[in-house]
Amino acid sequence: MTTDDALFLRAARGEDTPRAPVWIMRQAGRYLPEYRALKERYSFWEMVRTPDLAVEVTLQPVTRFGMDAAILFSDIMTPLPPMGVDIAFRPGPVFSDPVRSRAAVDALRVPDQDELAPFVAEALRELRRASPVPVIGFGGAPLTLATYCVQGGGSKDFAEFRGFLRAEPEAAHALLDKLTDVTVRYLRLQVEAGAQALQLFDSWAGLLDERSYREFGLPSAQRVMRELGDSGVARIYLAVDAGHLYPAIAELDTDAVSVDWRRPLSRLRDDLPGKTLQGNLDPAALLAPADALVAEAQRVLYEGLGGPHVFNLGHGVFPQTDPDNVARLVDSVHAFDRRTARHDTVPLGTAR
Ligand code: CP3
Repeated sequence: MTTDDALFLRAARGEDTPRAPVWIMRQAGRYLPEYRALKERYSFWEMVRTPDLAVEVTLQPVTRFGMDAAILFSDIMTPLPPMGVDIAFRPGPVFSDPVRSRAAVDALRVPDQDELAPFVAEALRELRRASPVPVIGFGGAPLTLATYCVQGGGSKDFAEFRGFLRAEPEAAHALLDKLTDVTVRYLRLQVEAGAQALQLFDSWAGLLDERSYREFGLPSAQRVMRELGDSGVARIYLAVDAGHLYPAIAELDTDAVSVDWRRPLSRLRDDLPGKTLQGNLDPAALLAPADALVAEAQRVLYEGLGGPHVFNLGHGVFPQTDPDNVARLVDSVHAFDRRTARHDTVPLGTAR
């Protein structure tokens, strides 16, 4: 059980902490041998829907590396099947019936909060008891969920979706409204079960031009953030390759923004005033030799000075990452004193 003064929560809520807390996106997953061992016995959906397994996987990286936060092991697709959407994981999500008409949107259900994902609530309650660090809940932003619903799966350019916004703007708004209602309920259930922070993944927002984002993305994300505003938890918004949207994202009622590696943190403070910055090491740095990795992490730590910073990757960790490099990364972040901008120890090659 953790308290409100945990380093991660202080930084996420806007405090310029003496050390940067660290967690990494997709920290529970395929790069970990202990995850792959469980995956031989259970499917991804089984692990997500079985609270004991979800808790075990969530805590694997925290136990191994000593991260400053645990993120619930689940997926942004979790609240969609109760809406009537059928999804398989191979390993990415594949929809049997993409949502591409007004009639298909109207057929979607908006389940009550209690029906949505009782297994998530149970996992979070257990995590609050068992986790030594704060627990992050999460959901997909309505725009990104809509991107998958319309496209029917992953894609390089999500052309179907971007066409749909133009061909059927009213159906698109109706879809976004339903997804917003569901997302608010899904995140509320997580807060009520014990989540101490929430991350809203708007992974594909950066595909849109600023005008389309202001029409379709920002209002739905804003409604989610505002409806969770009185819950007292730290709210984090993530968009990837979205520098052109920062003027709009700056208007979001969020405590923190998770940014990718394309621009240095030091140049983003003015673009996102009053927000904690989370990020922004290129996940590819974890594929480099240890000395190159540590040097790059130290650069990110310097660039993050001058305001609240949660150290993270710019996007998810690659499955081929060597876990020893993740250990080195976490140690080097912990060794950096932001008050003196000095490294206490040289973490290179540290044995654990
Ligand atoms: O960060 C964490 O450790 C928590 C777990 C987590 C998963 N998915 C587990 C997962 C989180 C936060 C997500 C979010 C998610 N899921 C996003 C938004 C984040 C982002 O990357 O922008 C998206 C777009 C998805 C959809 C999704 N789920 C994809 C594209 C895939 C397949 C490819 C991939 O990157 O793994 C999944 C499946 C998935 N979700 C796996 C895991 C560990 C792989 C399942 C397996 O083991 O085969």
